[in-house]
Amino acid sequence: MLKISHVSKTFNKGTVNEKKALTDIRLHLEKGDFVTIIGGNGAGKSTLMNMVAGVYPMDCGTIFLDGVNLSREPEYKRAALLGRVFQDPMMGTAASMQIEENLALAARRGRRRGLRWGVTREERARYHEELKRLGLGLEERMTAKVGLLSGGQRQALTLLMATLKEPKLLLLDEHTAALDPKTARKVLELTDEIVTGRHLTAMMVTHNMKDAIAIGNRLVMMSEGRIIYDVKGEEKKRLKVADLLAKFEEASAGAFANDRMLLS
Ligand SMILES: Nc1ncnc2c1ncn2[C@@H]1O[C@H](COP(=O)(O)OP(=O)(O)OP(=O)(O)O)[C@@H](O)[C@H]1O
Ligand SMILES: [Mg+2]
Repeated sequence: MLKISHVSKTFNKGTVNEKKALTDIRLHLEKGDFVTIIGGNGAGKSTLMNMVAGVYPMDCGTIFLDGVNLSREPEYKRAALLGRVFQDPMMGTAASMQIEENLALAARRGRRRGLRWGVTREERARYHEELKRLGLGLEERMTAKVGLLSGGQRQALTLLMATLKEPKLLLLDEHTAALDPKTARKVLELTDEIVTGRHLTAMMVTHNMKDAIAIGNRLVMMSEGRIIYDVKGEEKKRLKVADLLAKFEEASAGAFANDRMLLS
């Protein structure tokens, strides 16, 4: 489903701020793979997601999604194929628009302009159904402005929007990190339900090692712009946090002691 081959990225090449963020990344995902990505600060996790989404051009390498070469496609074209949820709950939704309007916008993702605007009765019924499944009572507030919602409610809505029109790939970049622990748990459960339940292909960055082990069928560890560990299936299920810590230590020669991963 996703084939990332030999992708490298250096920011600010040739300046004092030159930073090699990704080095020769190779990652192939099967359809239905749900991979969790862990790694210290600055390891290149977000940059990898941004490469797939086309936020910045790559220095070299190729990215194919479902057989389509995305390598030179602009961000807006890739957006039609991808679902994305970021760390910041304020980013994925339009605050001044209603819940149902946001959903209608998501349902029209990738379609040409000129479409008649408005939420049809059928759409409204579907959104009611989908919102109800979140279990947050949002189905009773469909004409409320999104700006009135809590961070967790907004993030759950963003997740629903990102998957309303089935994406070829769902990108989740620490999408629960800004939420309180209880809300984060709830949004994570919803994520698992949606991704696993609908057999979506997804990449989820997290700094919580327990979650990285418990969720998904594959785990990738990054360090200094490289993939240093990639496990799946039974081997992944058997992993312990201590195993991951040992890998980190090995990769960074103990330099991760201040990492926030240790705090979670
Ligand atoms: N737009 C940019 N311009 C310059 N440097 C950047 C840019 N984006 C990322 N970098 C640098 O690339 C490296 C990788 O950053 P990235 O955001 O991918 O890390 P990360 O693994 O997501 O870390 P975190 O866990 O802190 O989110 C870092 O050194 C970062 O400073
Ligand atoms: Mg990041």
